[in-house]
Amino acid sequence: MRITRRRFIGSALAAGAAAPLPQLAAAQAGTNPGGPVVVKPIPSSNELLPLIGLGTARRYENVSAAAEKAVLRDTVARFQALGGKMIDTAPTYGTAEALVGELVAGLGIRDALFLATKVSISGKQAGVDQIEQSFRNLRTKRIDLIAVHNLRDTVVHLQTLRDLRAAGRIRYIGITTSFDRQYPDFEATMKRETLDFIQVDYALDNREAGERILPLARDRGMAVMINLPFGRGRLFKATEGRPLPPWAAEFDCTSWAQFFLKYIVSNEAVTCAVPGMAQPKYADDNLQATRGRLPDAALRKRMEAFIDAL
Ligand SMILES: NC(=O)c1ccc[n+]([C@@H]2O[C@H](COP(=O)([O-])OP(=O)(O)OC[C@H]3O[C@@H](n4cnc5c(N)ncnc54)[C@H](OP(=O)(O)O)[C@@H]3O)[C@@H](O)[C@H]2O)c1
Repeated sequence: MRITRRRFIGSALAAGAAAPLPQLAAAQAGTNPGGPVVVKPIPSSNELLPLIGLGTARRYENVSAAAEKAVLRDTVARFQALGGKMIDTAPTYGTAEALVGELVAGLGIRDALFLATKVSISGKQAGVDQIEQSFRNLRTKRIDLIAVHNLRDTVVHLQTLRDLRAAGRIRYIGITTSFDRQYPDFEATMKRETLDFIQVDYALDNREAGERILPLARDRGMAVMINLPFGRGRLFKATEGRPLPPWAAEFDCTSWAQFFLKYIVSNEAVTCAVPGMAQPKYADDNLQATRGRLPDAALRKRMEAFIDAL
């Protein structure tokens, strides 16, 4: 397991038991195979989002074969059928953004989803052009969220995004990072700007964002989407071959993926997490983290101690 100082930092938000959260019937999404999903509100609108979304970096980036596409189509279909809504992509993820557009259009489920993408280029006009391409790639007239990717030309793009929001073409705006070195600039941007969403890396073995960024988002009324919730699979390697501790049953957890995801979404500042999900069986597993009880403050501490001791 990676040794960083983050491993020794407890979440500042671990104090206080997780409040009961609203539940939304997955029946709204169609087949209702899993029962109600737990949801949290986007602070700027009170719109409700399920705790788990779908990330499209890497596995959706370099796809052309029909057989590969079919697996991803089944994954997206399964995700939505289980009550999932948020799909996170980016114009810089190779084939991902256009593939999401193709799969969602083919499945006819656009209106049941919350599509999030990013602007990821320098320069005002280049940003406008990239965003217009995102509309074409995603095959939609309205994109739910566009965030400035990794703080690239933030001030310039936020103005473009605000104009698009005012015109009703996008619904929410935000910023993203997954780099510690950007945290000071990220925090400064959060203090300076009015944003609907932030997206940042946070995981059971990577808790630094919990110290300042997540409390700041809560204080500033910003929704929080968590990227790299499994540390790109690092947490699965750290726990490989180990059984779940029996106390995982106290928060209705039956797999390591649910263990890692429930830790994240039980942080009161977090709205949702977007694990990379490219297999239907992962959708079954990960969406189960939107169901049942979440760990309270004492259990969260126990989870941190458990992972730190590996
Ligand atoms: N700055 C940014 O804006 C930024 C940066 C990074 C990421 N992101 C977003 O965050 C998303 C998540 O990041 P990520 O995909 O790189 O990393 P991740 O979600 O931390 O980890 C993905 C890994 O977890 C595995 N996995 C997923 N569900 C599983 C399950 N139930 N059981 C076992 N293994 C499972 C996948 O397996 P396989 O290898 O078998 O597929 C993959 O290796 C991205 O897709 C992207 O949307 C945004």
